[in-house]
Amino acid sequence: VDEVSATVEVLRAVAVNPALVAHLLTHSERARHSALTDSGSRARVATGRALLRTAAARRFGVPPTEVALDYRCVVCGGPHGKPELRTTNASLHASVSYSGTVVLVAVADVPVGVDVEQCSATAFAGFESIALSALERADSAPMAPERRAELWVRKEAVLKISGVGLSVAPETVHIGRAASGRVQVPESVVAAGWASTVGVAVPAGYRAAVAVGGRQKPRVIVRDGRALLAAAAAAVHTATV
Ligand SMILES: CC(C)(COP(=O)(O)OP(=O)(O)OC[C@H]1O[C@@H](n2cnc3c(N)ncnc32)[C@H](O)[C@@H]1OP(=O)(O)O)[C@@H](O)C(=O)NCCC(=O)NCCS
Repeated sequence: VDEVSATVEVLRAVAVNPALVAHLLTHSERARHSALTDSGSRARVATGRALLRTAAARRFGVPPTEVALDYRCVVCGGPHGKPELRTTNASLHASVSYSGTVVLVAVADVPVGVDVEQCSATAFAGFESIALSALERADSAPMAPERRAELWVRKEAVLKISGVGLSVAPETVHIGRAASGRVQVPESVVAAGWASTVGVAVPAGYRAAVAVGGRQKPRVIVRDGRALLAAAAAAVHTATV
């Protein structure tokens, strides 16, 4: 049976000053960001929250402030899991990832995972034993950081589809050299037993990918997150003054 290819919308941005997107965040989100001591983290997290809400607002045709954002963990039920976007009568699957100054948000009508990583972040001793499957380890001539990051983001994007994240060992996801982006995965990761990954263009020194369940590569549309944030913030501001 031919599967229909899912469409994934990716909003890509450099982290912005949280003050620029404060209008798009809830009171408790603003309080949480203010408590973060690292300015880089504050910018990343605020940008990610604002992008999630902006992406959903575009799809639902409502103001960003009417979009509810939940983070229920599928493992323990706590408020620190995969994001879900809702209005009173619709919901959207989503994923967010940060690395350095890059923020990516992916939304789709099907469960989706996104991951971005700085290539330099994979250059630690022990990467192979944590991240690679037995076959990938056996295959390897020493891997360049770019290749490590390429494998890592595809694995993490797959693990984020259903919200299990790194509670499942990344070595259980075998990417190898699969040029198709299609990977067979444990059913504990994706019920269908298959996932498909596609690379996302990010600045030099980073790698990124999105993943959905099934054997069919998703269609990926990348949008300029910063421009969409500016437009959303201006619209909300106009509505509230
Ligand atoms: C979640 C995880 C995949 C994030 O990886 P990372 O490279 O550190 O961070 P990224 O920037 O790529 O992604 C962070 C975002 O992923 C989302 N996320 C959190 N848990 C997630 C999960 N299980 N699945 C999918 N997405 C998740 C969140 O939105 C988070 O952003 P936030 O902290 O601002 O809310 C990884 O840290 C992880 O799996 N941790 C442990 C998960 C676990 O054991 N859960 C059970 C706890 S009871």
